[in-house]
Amino acid sequence: MADHGIRRVAVIGAGTMGHGIAQVAAMAGHETVLCDVDAAQLERALVRIEATLDKGVRLGKVEAAARDGALARLAGTGGLREAADGADLVIEAIPEEMALKRRIFAEAEAAAPPEAILATNTSSLSITGMARGLAAPDRFLGLHFFNPVHIMALVEIVKGDATDPGVLDRCLAFVHDLGKEPIVVTDSPGFASSRLGIVLGLEAIRMVETGVASPEDIDKAMVLGYRHPMGPLRLTDLVGLDVRLGIARYLHESLGSEAFRPPALLERMVAEGRLGKKSGRGFYDWSDKP
Ligand code: NAI
Repeated sequence: MADHGIRRVAVIGAGTMGHGIAQVAAMAGHETVLCDVDAAQLERALVRIEATLDKGVRLGKVEAAARDGALARLAGTGGLREAADGADLVIEAIPEEMALKRRIFAEAEAAAPPEAILATNTSSLSITGMARGLAAPDRFLGLHFFNPVHIMALVEIVKGDATDPGVLDRCLAFVHDLGKEPIVVTDSPGFASSRLGIVLGLEAIRMVETGVASPEDIDKAMVLGYRHPMGPLRLTDLVGLDVRLGIARYLHESLGSEAFRPPALLERMVAEGRLGKKSGRGFYDWSDKP
């Protein structure tokens, strides 16, 4: 595979996703700078990365020398300019707000070298829309990682209208180098992963609503009948019913398909605060699980 020429990676946002992306980039040999406006969050992220790698060493999954090398290649900063300066690839993982992301990319574009690739980890927002306003939207695309980043193999690469095919090729090679499997998707609501995942989850909820079967049996159908690692209702509980409702509303509005209309049961459960694991109750009872 062609050399992607990506040496230095800047990751903007050190939360759930950003810290994981920085970890896999540093482990793959890249000089990596992790940036967050919240100093305490940045510190937590760096501590968490070290703890995850230490655990990997204890379990025999990571060589001690690989951990030490990755930690030596990883740095943290509160300054976006400092992070983007000299970066070959800037990956943004800040909250899911279009205006905020566009502001960060305008700043990153000004600070990064002219040939640097700019990528967003958005799970739903339009790539083409986000690139609007950039001087060079051809070097912009989506690199959608999955949570937890160091475990999940998939990276969804999302092409915007203006994305240069050469930039896409370089990112394909980069994702392979991280030890991940890329898929390429044209910018459209929900990309490939959320669109399919949500439709399955919503249909399962409609089946509970109309008494087709219990949540346990619906999940069992997919686990034992289709070899899914987890049923759609259990997964909905883990992701959060409120999060899934937000995505369903967005896809219903943007795709105009009845398949994405949020079921009344989902609306009701969210209104009652039954949000899944995080609230102790969703389709399952999680009250006794940490
Ligand atoms: P998070 O809330 O855990 O982390 C966001 C981080 O960005 C926070 O640490 C915050 O302090 C920081 N931040 C906010 N404004 C900033 C700025 N101007 N400059 C630098 N840092 C800033 O969010 P999470 O869950 O990591 O999500 C990030 C992105 O990844 C979102 O677009 C989300 O949709 C997407 N995503 C999330 C997944 C998940 O399972 N949580 C899965 C795949 C994508």
